[in-house]
Amino acid sequence: MASSELPDSPVTETSEPSAEPSPEPLHEVGVGPWEGEWPEGEHWDPELLQNGDRRNVLDQYRYWKHDAIVAELDSRRHDFHIAIENWQHDLNIGTVVRTANAFLAKEVHIIGRRRWNRRGAMVTDKYQHIRHHPTVDDFVAWAQAEGYTIIGIDIFPDSVPLETYDLPKRSVLVFGQEGPGLSAEVHEAAEATLSIEQFGSTRSINAASAAAIAMHAWIRRHVFNQRVS
Ligand SMILES: C[S@@+](CC[C@H](N)C(=O)[O-])C[C@H]1O[C@@H](n2cnc3c(N)ncnc32)[C@H](O)[C@@H]1O
Repeated sequence: MASSELPDSPVTETSEPSAEPSPEPLHEVGVGPWEGEWPEGEHWDPELLQNGDRRNVLDQYRYWKHDAIVAELDSRRHDFHIAIENWQHDLNIGTVVRTANAFLAKEVHIIGRRRWNRRGAMVTDKYQHIRHHPTVDDFVAWAQAEGYTIIGIDIFPDSVPLETYDLPKRSVLVFGQEGPGLSAEVHEAAEATLSIEQFGSTRSINAASAAAIAMHAWIRRHVFNQRVS
């Protein structure tokens, strides 16, 4: 993100109407202008040092140029990829991208329509490599060429519980849309389709919640070496 771009909104408290004066914002995200002598190094952003850094980034990246942050993330990204089908502009995609950033997915793949609603991403898409595939065939060809195992995540009759499945390290986890779920083409192309065990009355959970659970399962298996029994 260019340093001139607007940062994420400050965190503010909302309250019921009352006679009391409006409360001050709880706190503003980020830091103000750098105090003292400026540090030396290519990764520092002079505009942020001058004006402050209100971006939604870890403290260790404060005042860093956007490209320097992406380069540092690229040096240690995980082996898993994420894909989500986008035939009807699913509103969950932004949240999936944000979670993929948090768990440091290698790339996010959007299958179907190119345009997607970035709102839930909270600017994390600027730090994430995102690749568009107009068709499922195009996506499958990419996965095969790169040696990634396609793992569908959905509740099909032939789904295997995610909790008991040994996720391959080079996985691309594919999520469906609210309503239709994963397409028949992805179901067909997947090595396996995995379901997240549920215990209540609803048929399914929200796609972004499912994505967070599945990504964390990969993290537990391949970062913490927690094997399934
Ligand atoms: C709301 S669901 C789609 C509806 C679902 N196909 C059905 O039969 O009701 C949207 C997406 O969320 C994910 N999802 C939701 N609940 C899930 C679960 N329990 N296990 C695996 N994936 C789930 C899947 O990727 C799915 O395609």
